[in-house]
Amino acid sequence: MLSGRKGVVTMSKDPLRTKLCDLLGIEFPVVAFTHCKDVAVAVINAGGFAVLGEAMHTPDEIAADIGWIRDRVEGKPFGVDLVLPASVPPSGSIDDLTSKIPESHRKFAAEIKEKYDVPDPKGPVDLHQWGGLNQELARAQLDVLLDERVPVIASGLGSPAFILDAAHERDMLVFGLVGKARQAKRQIEAGVDAVIAQGYDAAGHTGAVGTFSIVAEVAAMAGDTPIIAAGGVTTGRHLAAALCLGASGVWTGTLWLASRESDIDMIIKERLLAATVEDTSYSTSISGMTMRVLDCPWTEEWAKPEAPDVLPAPYQMLLSADYLQGANDNRREDLMTEAAGQGVGFVTSMKPAKQILFDIVEEALDTFEEVVGELS
Ligand SMILES: Cc1cc2nc3c(=O)[nH]c(=O)nc-3n(C[C@H](O)[C@H](O)[C@H](O)COP(=O)(O)O)c2cc1C
Repeated sequence: MLSGRKGVVTMSKDPLRTKLCDLLGIEFPVVAFTHCKDVAVAVINAGGFAVLGEAMHTPDEIAADIGWIRDRVEGKPFGVDLVLPASVPPSGSIDDLTSKIPESHRKFAAEIKEKYDVPDPKGPVDLHQWGGLNQELARAQLDVLLDERVPVIASGLGSPAFILDAAHERDMLVFGLVGKARQAKRQIEAGVDAVIAQGYDAAGHTGAVGTFSIVAEVAAMAGDTPIIAAGGVTTGRHLAAALCLGASGVWTGTLWLASRESDIDMIIKERLLAATVEDTSYSTSISGMTMRVLDCPWTEEWAKPEAPDVLPAPYQMLLSADYLQGANDNRREDLMTEAAGQGVGFVTSMKPAKQILFDIVEEALDTFEEVVGELS
């Protein structure tokens, strides 16, 4: 509620105290998506919320990571993100899947390898990590989350509607990440507890609708369901704008990659700090699905007219695995890549995660003051 007196406008309510804060019992409406447990713990203990990406982990690893976080957050809530795409095979060995990759595609990958002198991976390619997901594994991963009663289950790909009953019976919340309004509509109707509306700017797998459009569109249809804005949020101005679009919080990935606690390779951290908003590619060449990553020769070559059509998931992921792991294992700066969003242009220094959170919150409050006047 705004009130005006002698030309001074004041805001009687803290604009950052949103229904997402109430739902999760958190101080600031900022969610960190991260694969790094140290980042997650730092954000949770500083008053934000963190969701740990575990899609590429075994059930045992997931259980261990949940225990590790619980030991460090004194009962505060957190989430775990899995991917549940309908398109993954029901079961089956990685050998079966790889044997289906056409010769023409293997040849093109081999040409890239030769052209850029891509070294071999130092050990066997971890194909479980690179595209080995199947429905059997996804079910086993989910069972761990249910057994552990993780406060929030997030589904990064695919509708989580089928786990709502089991989760709600255990007092767990279920969030779904969407890139299209019609996916949001279906999930809201199914009863998810929050929807992450993720726009084109985002790191990782993302749809083709811009963040400004998808957040406003989903917020307009959401009723009481909290909407969380994702894609390109790396400053307090973005946070303020997301709330004005109708979101109750932001879901951020790129923001934490170059934090002090982040465990990604220092080569990638330095590339992120140097990157501008124009240094990412939106490409299907890594996984077979549209994905935003730091520019690299692999995405560049597959964008050329002579490149074969990209294979569907998980085959393209299995094909790109040798390049990606070869580049990473040998720390070849010219070849390495990482999922990164367009907001990377605002990530310019390596700060502790707590500082990143406080800075974005402070800048959002300053932005609101700039727009509407002094906050009470
Ligand atoms: C390195 C990295 C890996 C990601 N992997 C996943 C993933 O496994 N599952 C998922 O749901 N989202 C994943 N994302 C996307 C995030 O959940 C989030 O939607 C995205 O980072 C938001 O855009 P932003 O990076 O511009 O903040 C990833 C993001 C990054 C930066």
